[in-house]
Amino acid sequence: MGATKGMGRALARRMAARGDRIALLGRDLDALERSARDLEVRGAAATAAVHCDLEGPDTFEGALDAAEAALGRLDAVVVTAGIFATQDALEADAALTERLLTLDFTNTVLFCEAARRRLLAAGGGKLCVFSSVAGERGRKPVVLYGASKAGLSAYLEGLDHRYRAQGLEVITVKPGFVRTSMTAELSPPPFAGEADDVAATVLDAIDRGVPVVYAPAAWRPIMAVIRALPRFVMRRVGF
Ligand SMILES: NC(=O)c1ccc[n+]([C@@H]2O[C@H](COP(=O)([O-])OP(=O)(O)OC[C@H]3O[C@@H](n4cnc5c(N)ncnc54)[C@H](OP(=O)(O)O)[C@@H]3O)[C@@H](O)[C@H]2O)c1
Repeated sequence: MGATKGMGRALARRMAARGDRIALLGRDLDALERSARDLEVRGAAATAAVHCDLEGPDTFEGALDAAEAALGRLDAVVVTAGIFATQDALEADAALTERLLTLDFTNTVLFCEAARRRLLAAGGGKLCVFSSVAGERGRKPVVLYGASKAGLSAYLEGLDHRYRAQGLEVITVKPGFVRTSMTAELSPPPFAGEADDVAATVLDAIDRGVPVVYAPAAWRPIMAVIRALPRFVMRRVGF
């Protein structure tokens, strides 16, 4: 879910290039159909376009049913869908805050729960979900978005601990700043990443069942330092 743009599209293209069978879940059927044709040209063995709206949890089970029917079975479920808004925009708009918290945390968790039940019932599989480095530490520029990703990362870690022995491998992706439509309005930091590089790292992590992936990789040591900073320092810096 989320393969029509950004890192999800880059990841789907890499899966297509090695001949994977892919069901695309999303809210815009025309965009999904266009993406499906693009993936077929790039080598996907089969594609399906399935309506699924992260704003509507009532669409989740039906979408996973349709994906499973189209593919025969599900080996991996990948969730890159999500929304972003700046801290200023969120503080000025309570409805937008509620929408972002609901999509990026509550509804993403509900979708993952539906996928988890299905994968476990079939004996296991991979669940790869895009969280963010923004969830690693409470930070001034991403108080609300970061809180939703912190909750999501905690949920995914718990899920991995609880079910890995039963064959469910949970892969939590923590991107730093990556140039996509989501970040088009923001000024990129010097070490901003590209979607295709992230996709290469994430596909390898999915195949190997790596539980936590920082992408670009430079964010792993950066976040180790950020996590170690005392609160009085975090309160002073703008990061
Ligand atoms: N880019 C970054 O720097 C960055 C950094 C850290 C974490 N992340 C996280 O990484 C993930 C992917 O980010 P990205 O930059 O690749 O984003 P993106 O380019 O904006 O793509 C987002 C995808 O989510 C889908 N989506 C949005 N709302 C949806 C809904 N209600 N139902 C179903 N699908 C929906 C979009 O589909 P449509 O085509 O329908 O719009 C699109 O395919 C997100 O979870 C984001 O929070 C991104």
